[in-house]
Formats: sequence, C-alpha cells, structure tokens
Amino acid sequence: MERLPVQVLGALAERIDLGIIVFDADMNILHWNAFITLHSGKQLKDAQGRAFTEVFPEAACVKFAQVVSQAVESSTHVYTHWVEAPLLRLDNPAIALQNTIFFPFIGSDGARMYGLILQESNAIASSTNSLEAALNSLRNKQDEQDQLLRKLEVANSQLLQSEKLAAIGQLAAGVAHEINNPIGYVFSNLKTLGGYVHDLLRIIDAVDNVSSLDELRNIKHSLEYNYIRSDIEAVISESEDGIDRVKRIIGALKDFSHIDEEEFRPVSLHRGIDTTLNVVNNELKYKAEVIKEYGDLPDVECIPSQINQVVMNLLVNAAHSIEQFGRITIRSRQEDSWVWLEVEDTGKGIEAKILNRIFEPFFTTKPIGKGTGLGLALSYTIIQKHHGRIEVFSEVGKGTRFRVWLPIKQTAEASQVEVQTL
Ligand SMILES: Nc1ncnc2c1ncn2[C@@H]1O[C@H](COP(=O)(O)OP(=O)(O)O)[C@@H](O)[C@H]1O
Ligand SMILES: [Mg+2]
Repeated sequence: MERLPVQVLGALAERIDLGIIVFDADMNILHWNAFITLHSGKQLKDAQGRAFTEVFPEAACVKFAQVVSQAVESSTHVYTHWVEAPLLRLDNPAIALQNTIFFPFIGSDGARMYGLILQESNAIASSTNSLEAALNSLRNKQDEQDQLLRKLEVANSQLLQSEKLAAIGQLAAGVAHEINNPIGYVFSNLKTLGGYVHDLLRIIDAVDNVSSLDELRNIKHSLEYNYIRSDIEAVISESEDGIDRVKRIIGALKDFSHIDEEEFRPVSLHRGIDTTLNVVNNELKYKAEVIKEYGDLPDVECIPSQINQVVMNLLVNAAHSIEQFGRITIRSRQEDSWVWLEVEDTGKGIEAKILNRIFEPFFTTKPIGKGTGLGLALSYTIIQKHHGRIEVFSEVGKGTRFRVWLPIKQTAEASQVEVQTL
C-alpha cells in the first residue's frame, strides 16, 4: 500500500478537529498540532523537549499515569473516556468531556514514541445524555403501565368477584321467589288441616257424649265431614308437592353454593343444566317455553359450579332477549373428544356491528340496573380456563344461539397451570 506523503499527513494533522501530541520515549513533548495550540493558549516551541506533566500539570493524574503504564507494558492502544474530567483543561470551556487514545509507535528514525489523540466528545455525550433521558422516561412510562396493568388486574378480579356476587344475589332473589309460593300454600294448607283436625277431634270426642248414633251423624253432617274427608287428601298431597319443590330448589342451591370451588372433576353436564334451570326458572317461565334436546354425553371434566354459571348467564341473556314470549332450546352433543352445549333463543338477535363486542367486560345494551355487561366476559374467562371455546350465531329479529365447546378431559398440565388464573 502506498503511504500518504508526509506533507499531506502534516497538513491533515494541522487541519483536523482533534488534539494530537507526540512524545518521545520519556514522555517529553516532541510535537503537537494547531488544535492544541489553539485551545491551550500555549506555544509549541515553549513546550518542545519538556515533560508533558510539566507543561500540563493537570496531566499528572493517577488515571493518565495508568494509561501510560498500560500502553508501555502492553504496547497497545489505550482508549479512555474522560468522563467530565478532561485530561487537559484546554482553553475551551465547552470541552467538558474527552475521549483520548494513547499509543506507542516507532518513528521514522526507529525510535520509540508515543502519540496522544484528544477528541472532544461533548456532542456525543449530550446526545448520549438525551438518549439516556429518553430511555429513562420510557422506563418510567413502562413502570407506570406495569402499575396500571396491575391495577387493572386487581379491578378485573374484583369485577369478576362482583359479578359472582351479583349472580349469587340473582340466585337468592330467584330462590326466594320460587320458595315463597310453595311455602305460602303449604302454610295455608297447614292452617286448613288444623281446622279439619279440630273438627275431626270434635266428632271423635262426641262418640263418648252422644246419646244416639243419629246425634253423632248430625254432628258429622254439620261439620261437613264428607267434604273434610275428600279435601284432606288433596291438601296433604298438594303440601307434599310444595315441600318437594322446596327440597329440589334447596338441592339445586347446594350445587350452586360451591361457586368458588376450583377443582376439575368429571360430572354430568345435563345435571348441571337441570340444576341451573331450577334456579333460574323464575326468570324464564314468564318469558319462554324451555325445550331440552339433550344428546348422549359422557361425564365432562370441569369445574361444575363455573359451568353452571356460564349456562345461567346464557339462559338469563336468552330470556332478556325475548320481548313477549318465546322459546329457549338447550341442546347438547358429543363430537369425538369434545362436547358442546348450546342455548338458542327466539329473541331479538344481536346486530352484526356489536357482535364482536359482546364478550368485552362492561359491554351491555341493557339499561342501568339490568345489565352489568360482565356475564359474557365472565363466561368467556371460564370457558378459556376449561380450554374450550364459545361460538355465537345470531340473526336480528330471529334469535341467537350460543354454543359452548368443552374438551371431555383436561390435560394434566393445562388444568394445573390455569387453575389460578380466574
Ligand atoms: N341471547 C342474546 N340475545 C341478544 N343479545 C344478547 C344475547 N346475549 C348477549 N347479548 C348482548 O350482549 C350483551 C352483553 O351480554 P352480557 O355480557 O351477559 O352482559 P349483560 O347481560 O349484563 O348486558 C348484552 O347487553 C346484549 O346486548
Ligand atoms: Mg348477561
């Protein structure tokens, strides 16, 4: 490779925006360029042949001594970043930062020499600073977002909790309503029975006191024995029916009361649906005829109370969608290792433009007090946790069908990981 002519190199060294100082093997100054003259205010001719640290006392620092000994020992270039403490406090106060390279080399006469190159790095530093500031503010933003996310998570779980509570409240109201009726007539039947027993006792007591059978017959007749006789059986069987209904509802409620249980176990989905129907019957019966078209299902591994809650949400939504009186059809099928259950209504349907929003938390088209907008969001979370999926088909004016797919078996690791997320 052809070398640059010496004059060219000289001219370059004088013009370049870097400080260049050349030393002999004993660190006496041999030469420096115009940059050093300009910024130090010292003249080269006064400095030539003198020790570097004598001309620039500020260079007699530990850090520079280390740089020199490292370069001498290893014969390599030593690069230093003089952070806010420039090696030479050159005349230019703006030079607060320098990069320096100190290196040994062999001169044209074969003698060992050292070179020192000083580069002002304020500009780099300031751009680094602003980069750092930008990074910091990004980091802060990230922290803020993390915090917000955590808050959202907390709020979300509180909401889900409150939806659960709302569901329990809804249940309680429904159950109260359902139980009220049978309890009411069982109570009134008891009163009637009390009256009957009173009259019957009077007839029996009369056996000891009457003088003739005719008198006894008269008493029997006046107390309407025949009517009591025929009514008493009806009253008792009606009361038994009533108590039976109460028992059924209490049983259903028991199934539901494990609302916080977190364990997957194989259960009959149909039993869950029937239980749920019992509980929400009060909401449905004035709005729709309920038709069951169950297929043959194996037991499905799930968290039964949660699946019941999904079914309840779907049923209540279906009832809400029906304006006058309609039909709600519940179907189920097995397909390979999956089962599905669906709830179809003849309600008002869902407009296409909101169809993709109905699973969002808080999305509701119902008036305040009626809708929380959380039913489907919660259902979605529950089904996700079961590694299933939920589909919706709807036609405005005709009705809506929600279909829930569930795997019959949960894979071991999947169900374990997911259990904690809801
Ligand atoms: N069966 C359905 N028929 C018509 N619209 C429905 C049906 N189910 C859900 N939707 C729509 O989805 C919205 C969200 O449902 P959901 O999450 O259960 O909240 P909410 O019932 O409290 O409004 C409802 O407000 C309604 O607009
Ligand atoms: Mg709802």
